[in-house]
Amino acid sequence: MSTLDWLAGAGSAVRGEIAVPGDKSVSHRAIMFASLADGESQVHGFLEGEDTRATAAIFAKLGVRIDAAGVGSRAVQGVGIDGLHGCAEALDCGNAGTGMRLLAGLLAGQRFDSVLVGDASLSKRPMARVIDPIVRMGGLIESDAGGLPPLRIRGGRALHGIDYTLPVASAQVKSAVLLAGLYAHGETHIREPHPTRDYSERMLRAFGWPIAFGPGWARLSGGHRLQPTQVQVPADFSSAAFFIVAASLVPGSDLLLRAVGMNPRRTGLLTVLRAMGADIVESPCGEQGGEPVADLRVRHARLRGIAVPEACVPDMIDEFPVLFAAAALAEGTTVVTAAAELRVKESDRIATMASGLRALGARIDETPDGAVIHGGTLHGGEAHAHGDHRIAMALVVAAQCASGEVRVVDCANVATSFPGFDDLARGIGFGLRG
Ligand code: S3P
Repeated sequence: MSTLDWLAGAGSAVRGEIAVPGDKSVSHRAIMFASLADGESQVHGFLEGEDTRATAAIFAKLGVRIDAAGVGSRAVQGVGIDGLHGCAEALDCGNAGTGMRLLAGLLAGQRFDSVLVGDASLSKRPMARVIDPIVRMGGLIESDAGGLPPLRIRGGRALHGIDYTLPVASAQVKSAVLLAGLYAHGETHIREPHPTRDYSERMLRAFGWPIAFGPGWARLSGGHRLQPTQVQVPADFSSAAFFIVAASLVPGSDLLLRAVGMNPRRTGLLTVLRAMGADIVESPCGEQGGEPVADLRVRHARLRGIAVPEACVPDMIDEFPVLFAAAALAEGTTVVTAAAELRVKESDRIATMASGLRALGARIDETPDGAVIHGGTLHGGEAHAHGDHRIAMALVVAAQCASGEVRVVDCANVATSFPGFDDLARGIGFGLRG
């Protein structure tokens, strides 16, 4: 991956009306379930990001015909639950933890062997969390030392259902176990320490697989089939979050975000920003693909630091980089706890945000499971995104309120989740140059 730096600095007020691209989590899952269904499914609003395209490319290698009818559209010729073909080459998940973890569960149930590899960041991310439950189900997955990729997944194993309580709140691990459960004899029952996003459960139901679930648990049995369907992917709340925070921070801002996905397991940032004083008006506009969507109008407001409620953490796990930016520019102190998971994301997001914002003059104390962020002002400088898409975008948001220009180093991976972020941002007033 080539490096790409951005120069970001105070632009104008953040104003206008935008729609952000499709949800990454839903796009990965739509390709997976559509590939395993009996016949053609259509996916609309598919995220044309590198992560989700890597997942689509993997299913093409496994023998699924996937046609791009246009930007954000895919026609997927599902091969049925047992119709995938093995691939002699390693399957490259790129930067995507979701792709690798969910595929680990799915491929553990196949007749053939597979190898999953990823980029430099993904190759450092923990996979024991998916290997452990899959092995308990009778699967066999070998990793490098320390539970790191590549994953060598043995096929031809007879899986059985388990009753499994996740040690960490993780939708990726939950989904991997559910996907293995499709191929298991008997019932798979999952319990979570805190409820996480339930897209796999909702989508399995939409594809006709019998599943019972509620906040914090899910239960299904193997031996059914998936019926093809149409999936409408809602706009990604996590992508909207950068603009929600920017419009809150920059004086004079008034931004309308159209039809944003509002799954309650994703929108913890709204609760926290409102407690900090943000002015966000939510106008529900129905459902897309079984997910609630709403227009969000965000106007500038003075933000105050708070102690982030621990119960909100799983519901905003991807939004901490941009929350750190908001907190560094708020009045008073923001305290983040119970968020150790941030240390094993695309980068160690506590460390990378703390060092990036410190380079711009912020005062941040790191703790093992969070940070204490003392609000104030930011100056220009050089801040490193460490190849993490969300760190890059969060630093660009922070730079909108810095007194000088900020060089954000290593932003190329923004295209993994948000292709076109820079153009969209410039169009609503961001100061941002490539
Ligand atoms: C995701 C789950 C979350 C999130 C990631 C996408 C998913 O990870 O951070 O960006 O699609 O299931 P964990 O489940 O590991 O917390």
